[in-house]
Amino acid sequence: HADDGYRLWLRYDLIKTEAKLARYRQHLQEIVVQGSSPTLKAAKDELKQGLSGLLGNAVNLSAEPSRAFTLVAGTPKSSAFISSLNVSTRLQEAGQEGYLLFTHKTNGRTCTVIAANTDAGVLYGAFHLLRLLQTEQDITSLNLSSAPKTQHRILNHWDNLDRTVERGYSGFSLWDWHKLPEYIDQRYIDYARANASIGINGTVLTNVNANSLVLTEEYLQKVAALANAFRPYGLKVYLTARFSSPLEIGGLKTADPLNPEVQAWWKRKVQEIYRHIPDFGGFLVKANSEGQPGPQNYGRTHADGANMMADALAPMGGIVMWRAFVYDNNVPDDRAKQAYNEFKPLDGTFRKNVLVQVKNGAIDFQPREPFHPLFGAMPRTPLMMEFQITQEYLGQGTHLAYLAPLYKEVLESDTYAKGKGSTVAKVVDGSLHQYTTTGMAGVANIGTDRNWTGHHFGQANWYSFGRLAWDHTLASDQMAQEWLRMTFSNEDAFLQPTRKMMLRSHETVVNYMTPLGLHHIMGWNHHYGPGPWIKDKPRADWTSVYYHRATEKGIGFDRTKTGSNAVAQYFAPVEKLFSSLKNCPEKYLLWFHHLPWDYKVSSGRILWDELCYRYAEGVNEVRDMQQTWEQQQNHVDPERFKHVQTFLKIQEKEARWWRDACLLYFQTFSKRPIPAGLEKPA
Ligand code: GCU
Repeated sequence: HADDGYRLWLRYDLIKTEAKLARYRQHLQEIVVQGSSPTLKAAKDELKQGLSGLLGNAVNLSAEPSRAFTLVAGTPKSSAFISSLNVSTRLQEAGQEGYLLFTHKTNGRTCTVIAANTDAGVLYGAFHLLRLLQTEQDITSLNLSSAPKTQHRILNHWDNLDRTVERGYSGFSLWDWHKLPEYIDQRYIDYARANASIGINGTVLTNVNANSLVLTEEYLQKVAALANAFRPYGLKVYLTARFSSPLEIGGLKTADPLNPEVQAWWKRKVQEIYRHIPDFGGFLVKANSEGQPGPQNYGRTHADGANMMADALAPMGGIVMWRAFVYDNNVPDDRAKQAYNEFKPLDGTFRKNVLVQVKNGAIDFQPREPFHPLFGAMPRTPLMMEFQITQEYLGQGTHLAYLAPLYKEVLESDTYAKGKGSTVAKVVDGSLHQYTTTGMAGVANIGTDRNWTGHHFGQANWYSFGRLAWDHTLASDQMAQEWLRMTFSNEDAFLQPTRKMMLRSHETVVNYMTPLGLHHIMGWNHHYGPGPWIKDKPRADWTSVYYHRATEKGIGFDRTKTGSNAVAQYFAPVEKLFSSLKNCPEKYLLWFHHLPWDYKVSSGRILWDELCYRYAEGVNEVRDMQQTWEQQQNHVDPERFKHVQTFLKIQEKEARWWRDACLLYFQTFSKRPIPAGLEKPA
């Protein structure tokens, strides 16, 4: 089964633990999926394929329960059997996409039941059951239910129409525009299956730096073909809409959102889209950011722009995801403040079908950032989370960094918007401000590489993003273990060390790249490797020196009252926490404070020495990861073993590169020696 990772976590190989295998075989003697919609057919096919592989024998499909132990899946509408079980009250809680999974004994027959209100719910339940088997859990007396905590769980592909991928490190775009609409690559189906297996229900096909051509008739036919391929898997298609499209493909002289002709153009365009794709999801828009056109070009606000598109989409049921990642005007005193300053005053002025999509932090997907101050600050506007799954600033395609701990750190941060316990997660899932629409987006790390994500462990970030979008309360450890079990092995001797390695890996990368709150000191533009010396660029905030501010006196960005005062954008308790030198979490120290080189940190060391130790620790931890992996040779097929082994070697080399480059550069300011006992920079 050396598939080089193509099957992702949906491997369905024969279960190795004999006792478990025997029990599963006994309990799952046939599959009954009553109903014939494309989605139920997908569920049926998946169960058949999955169970046959896992159990090592063909499990029969049957129209009615006929064996002593039966698997039954369906909705009360599609299945007389499910409807006879009287689970409608419990199903109400499951909502549109949730499901129940339980064991039901009747007339001497034991049924494993997957019940849902909708066909999509049945499909999600089917994947859950398969996961239980793949991870070798007990299924003899099930009684569980699951429902998503956010409504729109969406991948953002930054894919260009020429198939290059912005910030993509795993080959080219999956969408083969040239062969569409006729040719439907099996990969589209497998992509949809993988997403359905973790509850992702939407995909934005195109780059936020958008090309208006995708909104032309020729491309819409191709988009429709993809939408048709994804539909059975509950996966809706969205597109990025370039604000200036009326000029570029509409022949208009303006894109002013208050101009009636422009409004009429978007209405017609949207109707055209829905003629091709009746369940089209809507638009994702990057406007007035990094040179992209937007409403401000016409003296209008983000709300004017978003509402114009929202009005066109509303009758068709579509949404607008308007991004808050903006920095476009004159270089501000602190770029971190701009999104809040532009968006907060607009709270309550957006249409109902607009979500404002906010990156997890105020700068840009750094290895570590404090949560974005907009979370909690717009009670009357649904805010959607935008995480980055692709590792633009985290070693890109070659470094192992399990990102669930990063996502969790942000989601569990307390905004104090309504007092203690007002976490970012509660903002995003709508419970804090009673948002009626909710969502979470992840910038995809997927491409044409055989294993989809370049690094095998990149799959775990796609996986855990989807799982968290469904249920943000899941622990990083649980998701790591699920993924490891399904992707590699259920053996304890493998699981224990590798899960530890994964759980530590994000912190490791932070250590050798940007410890103690340092940020944006990567190489110019490509963002790979160190570049703390970057200066003299067209904008101050495109340099590294702008962010670290190292001088002979010290290092760090003062964002307190004595500096940019960005801390004032947080609610009072958070502002106090970050402002206070004593209480500011050390991981954000240099994010918020400019400190002398001999400032004493919690370890008792001076700041300069602590930096040296952190960089050294980062390198050492990569070496630990290498050692951990070396022990796994017997548990992993040779292809994947070697692949990860080789990448870890690259990571070790580059961790040293980061350490040496940063320390030698910062040393020109600190003028202090590397503490004794630490490896000297090469
Ligand atoms: C980052 C990234 C860009 C991207 C931008 C965005 O700045 O480097 O490539 O376009 O984020 O999120 O819009």
